[in-house]
Parts: sequence; C-alpha cells; structure tokens
Amino acid sequence: QELQMNLEQIEKGGYEHFMLKEIYEQPSVIKDTYRGRLLANKGIVQMAGVEDNIEKFLNAERIIIVACGTSWHAGLVAEYIFEEFARIPVEVEYASEFRYRNPIINPKDVVIAISQSGETADTLAAIKLAKEKGAFVFGVCNVVGSSISRETHAGAYTHAGPEIGVASTKAFTTQITILTLISLRLAKAKGTMSNSDFHRYLQELEAIPEKVAEALATNDIAKTIASIYKDAPNCLYLGRGYNFPVALEGALKLKEISYIHAEGYPAAEMKHGPIALIDEKMPVIIVAPKQGHYDKVVSNIQEIKSRSGKIIAVVTKGDTQVKELADHVIEIPDTAEALTPLLTTIPLQLLSYHIAVMRGCNVDQPRNLAKSVTVE
Ligand code: G6P
Repeated sequence: QELQMNLEQIEKGGYEHFMLKEIYEQPSVIKDTYRGRLLANKGIVQMAGVEDNIEKFLNAERIIIVACGTSWHAGLVAEYIFEEFARIPVEVEYASEFRYRNPIINPKDVVIAISQSGETADTLAAIKLAKEKGAFVFGVCNVVGSSISRETHAGAYTHAGPEIGVASTKAFTTQITILTLISLRLAKAKGTMSNSDFHRYLQELEAIPEKVAEALATNDIAKTIASIYKDAPNCLYLGRGYNFPVALEGALKLKEISYIHAEGYPAAEMKHGPIALIDEKMPVIIVAPKQGHYDKVVSNIQEIKSRSGKIIAVVTKGDTQVKELADHVIEIPDTAEALTPLLTTIPLQLLSYHIAVMRGCNVDQPRNLAKSVTVE
C-alpha cells in the first residue's frame, strides 16, 4: 500500500493530481507532437502517414471526422481549420450517431478518426463502417499500437505521453496540433493558402509551446476566480468561430470533474435561448481573443452585462474593451487566429481543475466516468 502510494506520487511528478501535471505538460508535449514534422525555417510540414497517402487527401471531396467526447471537440476545431486552410468540406460526427445512421460514405471521402485511447468502441465501429464503404480512414491516436491505430489505413500519433486523468487535457491540444499540421500540409499542396500566410503559420505554430507556457501563468488568477464561483450551480461558456468548440470543451471539463452543470454555446446563439438563464447568479465564461469576430463578442458581453450576468473573459494580452465590461479577465498571449484554441483552452482547464479541487471532488477519477469507453 505504502509502496503504491509512493509510486503514484513519483508518477505525479510533484503535482497534486495527474490532471494538473498533464495540463502543465502541454508546452513540451505539443513540441513532441510537431518535432520532425514541422520545420518552420525550411518551410516544411511532413508526416509519414500523410505523405504516403497524399493523393488520397488531395483527391478528397470531403473529410468526415468521427470521434467522441473531447476528441470530438478537437474535431470541431479542425473543421474550421481544414475548411479555412485547405478548402475541403468537413463534417464532424459523433461516432455513436454516425455508425447507426446508415451514413452516406463515398470512396472519395477521407475519414479521420480522433481518439486519445484508440479504444473507444463507437469510434472503432465507425471506422469499420467507413472502411466497408470504401473510404480511406486516417487515425489520430495517442496510444501507440491501440485498436484504432491498427484498424485505420494510416495515421499520425499525438505524442502526448500517457494521459491518466480521466478529463482529457494534453490529448486535446496535441490532437489540434496534428490536425493543424495536416491542414497546413494540404493547404500548401493545394495552393489554398498564400505563401506568406503558410510561413507565418509555421512560425506561429512553432512558437505555440512558449505561449502555452505563458498561458499557464494564468494559474493564480484561475484559482482566484475558482474560489469566487466554486459554488455556482450552473455555468455558461460562450465562444465564436475557432473558439466555439473551446467553449464546448470548457463546459465539458467543468461538468466532468466538478459536477457543476455547464453548457457551451456559440456566442451568437445565446439570444436564441440561453440568454433567458442569465441573472446575477450566472457566471458566463466567454472566450474573446482579439481576432475573430471580436466586436460581435463584445456586444454579446454587453448583453450579458445588462442582465447582470457575471462575466469571466479570456482575452488577448493588452485588451482594453472587454476589460472594461468583464468582472474578471484572463489574459493569454497573441497568436494567429486559427491557433487561438491552443491558448484559450489552457485557462479553462485550470479553472475547472481548481473549482473541482475546491469542491473536494476526485479530480483524476470523477464519478461515473471512465478513461476509455470500450463498451457502447
Ligand atoms: C471518455 C473520456 C473522455 C474522452 C472520450 C473519448 O469519455 O472520459 O475524456 O474524451 O472518452 O475518448 P478517446 O480515447 O476516444 O479520445
């Protein structure tokens, strides 16, 4: 028993929980994920699994992403990136819905399955179905040699290392990293992105680990905010564009580990329902980096404020407009718009973590949840 405890402490590397350790590992694992694949100074993006099948990707009439949970959220971020960078239509599907729907799949479809564990039963079943219908199936997995990595035609591993905390953190950001690399590779081959943008994105992506490290410095403020809102019964998360999926993921993290009811919404949809929930007791976490519909988000914030909602905003360093309106701001470094999810996600992970700890929850093993769901 004692030996077991000591081993676990060693594995946690000085952190109180695996989840916190994994949150803090993100700068280094994102680097591990792009190492050898992103050569910014040479203007090269390469991944063996993509190079070997480049024709399949270039001829794709559509990309269908299948996944569950947090991996599905990474897929949603990728939808925005693929469509913007490579101009390929993308559909993102819950594997469980896709597999039972008699979906239309053509041999010219590329199916990308995203899974940290590589063992999720629904995702595995979706892959088998897509293969039967003749699609090319590409896996983005973290666990090497997992079922999904073996079932897919090709793939690229996220090199996040073992993720022990049930709530996924570093898997999410490394999945987005891989999917961004693939989008950039295809954008270059298809000529859908200008040369200067391509080089700018390579540089920006290379600089992301340092900026993630800077975003981790929001830990203290996240902790303070957590102490104020830890007893809230509900929370609303809002974001637009690339950061709409970040809002969904922020809400999921909070639900999973703190058992607070939380909902993520595209900010503009607020007026079609969630706005009715807003009063002085409702914390609203709003992702508002300076690029990407900033003015629209500011007016969403005004709408919340005029209904006395409590506003916690994730903003770009140096922001002034949101700062005037929000109750709390969390500042993250500036980056290219499509890469903002890699930074905006960080304070939301920390916020959920601290709230869960303060509520006395079992952060690493939340009730009723499993790390990998191998049953339907
Ligand atoms: C479970 C885990 C989640 C994860 C989801 C999908 O629900 O608790 O953290 O996002 O499965 O798992 P996968 O391994 O396929 O990414």
